[in-house]
Amino acid sequence: MKIAFVGGGTMGEAMVSCLLAKGVAEPPDIAVSDVDKTRRELLSGQYGVTAVADSREAIGGADVIVLAVKPQDLSRVMEEIGSPSPRQIVLSIVVGASLSTLHRGLGHPLIIRAMPNMPARIGEGMTAWTASPEVSEDQRKMVGDVLGALGEKVYVADEKYIDMATALSGSGPAYVFLFIEALTDAGVHIGLPRDVAERLVIQTILGSVHTMEKAGKHPAELRNMITSPGGTTAEALLELEKGGFRSLLVTAVAAAYEKAKNL
Ligand SMILES: NC(=O)c1ccc[n+]([C@@H]2O[C@H](COP(=O)([O-])OP(=O)(O)OC[C@H]3O[C@@H](n4cnc5c(N)ncnc54)[C@H](OP(=O)(O)O)[C@@H]3O)[C@@H](O)[C@H]2O)c1
Repeated sequence: MKIAFVGGGTMGEAMVSCLLAKGVAEPPDIAVSDVDKTRRELLSGQYGVTAVADSREAIGGADVIVLAVKPQDLSRVMEEIGSPSPRQIVLSIVVGASLSTLHRGLGHPLIIRAMPNMPARIGEGMTAWTASPEVSEDQRKMVGDVLGALGEKVYVADEKYIDMATALSGSGPAYVFLFIEALTDAGVHIGLPRDVAERLVIQTILGSVHTMEKAGKHPAELRNMITSPGGTTAEALLELEKGGFRSLLVTAVAAAYEKAKNL
């Protein structure tokens, strides 16, 4: 499978790196176009892929064309590349760009829209994706292999779920990083050395996630297992509820969703 990237920034590079690491593609199968010479040099030097300035040159002969530019650059990119050939599939990870915008802008019906997230950089991403009705089963399977190299993936039949995924899993790592930072600061506040607090927090989060995966229980059930009557955990949980921890998360994700819909 030949894959071309338009945009070799953070996500473009993450995808190239995962595709090569998972053996989904070899360096000669990948071409990247980027306006930035430094990015082109880095990508060809580090991964051995073809890196060019001209997007049309990059996409020629590709089975899958990945659009990995910032939303504000999308119109220009669509003008630059024009209509792909009838057999080429366009895979867009551009936040907020709908299937109909891409279909109209490219004059091409075979579009896949995906929302990966930042841990895709290490092959631990979560991607929600959908496809225009014209994309065949075989083509879906081919693009599914590309997305699978980034980590876990979930197909959604209705495009509206992509904007929701943008707010939940797309932005999600930022919420988790903020939680880690705040919890570490809390440890420092009560007197722990920062490096110790950091280690305690990270393994607590990793261990909790793995426990949940293995136990297959509802999180409330697991939480109850460590909330002794009149104990320390109950005391902390009361403060979190008083501060609106749950409802704050709901309103934060809802705000991100509104933004995603209106980009
Ligand atoms: N980062 C994430 O976690 C994440 C997650 C999901 C989805 N996304 C989406 O993925 C897309 C890419 O994000 P990113 O973080 O990878 O952005 P990025 O680092 O800015 O990468 C985009 C690259 O495309 C280049 N570019 C701009 N115009 C171009 C053109 N006409 N032809 C070829 N290359 C061009 C940019 O060069 P210049 O910098 O010189 O303009 C830059 O190197 C965005 O739409 C974003 O919403 C990102």
